[in-house]
Amino acid sequence: MTTDPTKTTSANRPRRDVLGLAAWTMGAAGAGLAAWPFIASLGPGAEARALATIDVDLTPVAEGQAITVVWRGKPVFIRHRTEAEISAARAVALEDLPSPEPDDTRVRRAQWLVVLGVCPHLGCVLQGQRDGEPRGDYGGWFCSCHGSHFDESGRVRAGPSPSNLPVPPHDFRDDGTLVIG
Ligand code: FES
Repeated sequence: MTTDPTKTTSANRPRRDVLGLAAWTMGAAGAGLAAWPFIASLGPGAEARALATIDVDLTPVAEGQAITVVWRGKPVFIRHRTEAEISAARAVALEDLPSPEPDDTRVRRAQWLVVLGVCPHLGCVLQGQRDGEPRGDYGGWFCSCHGSHFDESGRVRAGPSPSNLPVPPHDFRDDGTLVIG
């Protein structure tokens, strides 16, 4: 299955959120229906693998922009980070992090951050992915449920979240295609 994001832009913050929650649901349902005859023709092991993996076309996602896709029923945030965001994420001293993790262990390519978009505290969907939403005090995402803040690497920096945003298994098929799962 290939996700084909559409674009919204902001003049003062050139990021975009490609799919809203309703769109994820409809897109996932549509993709699932389209893929069903193919998947149904596979054996049990291949069927499970087909459903567990998605391809994401990254070519329309410019630096500084972000998209959201659904993988295994969960929102996955993909951010095309700027040099400034990468530098900020890598300048943080590990001892200042509640859950110390170097940025370079959380990404396969420095410019692409891929994290689950659900707060590890109690499961709220985070803000900061859409234009105009608060990104918290550390440039990443904010959970308005109980006030957790996440940085440009998806690491918790403040609030009750017990852990960083999980990084789902992913790799790059080529420069323009991300495979999640
Ligand atoms: Fe996010 Fe509680 S659910 S801080």
